[in-house]
Amino acid sequence: MSLRIAVYPGSFDPVTCGHLDIIHRAAKQFDKLIVAVLNNTAKNALFTLEERQQLLRQVTGHLPNVEVDGFRDLLVNYMTHKKAHVIVRGLRAVSDFEYELQMASANQKLNPDVETFFMMTNPKYSYLSSSIVKELAKFHGDVSDFVPDEVAEALRGKFG
Ligand code: PNS
Repeated sequence: MSLRIAVYPGSFDPVTCGHLDIIHRAAKQFDKLIVAVLNNTAKNALFTLEERQQLLRQVTGHLPNVEVDGFRDLLVNYMTHKKAHVIVRGLRAVSDFEYELQMASANQKLNPDVETFFMMTNPKYSYLSSSIVKELAKFHGDVSDFVPDEVAEALRGKFG
């Protein structure tokens, strides 16, 4: 029997408690979950690809079926390379829907064997995003409820 492999793709700049909640829950549903960090040259990232991956590895190290990787390809090509058929995405609010629908539809068109599974973000984190966290950290706001300790420390390293 083939392994049920899912990919949770994203920028993860940096990983938040909202992402981590999706990772915990998705990892229970699949044999293997690959958290795939996009090396997106268009987005002005705060953390390098290596830093983002390193933080993800630190906060998911206790989850045996979670692997952290990076990609710079079309997601569907990466999925084929990894023999994965499911993309996991978290939905926070209606505002996420349109973008996610576009992406899921484009990916479905590019490879009809790939399915996107949506998971509702825990309501505790429905307003949370990496951008909000970076904005708070930049002005020395308290991010301890929004990101794991390792990430809070890395943010202090960036913003002093
Ligand atoms: O965390 P993000 O920035 O919302 O994640 C977006 C991501 C990485 C899932 C998306 O930009 C992506 O898959 N990029 C790779 C290129 C691609 O395949 N795009 C979708 C087809 S249009």
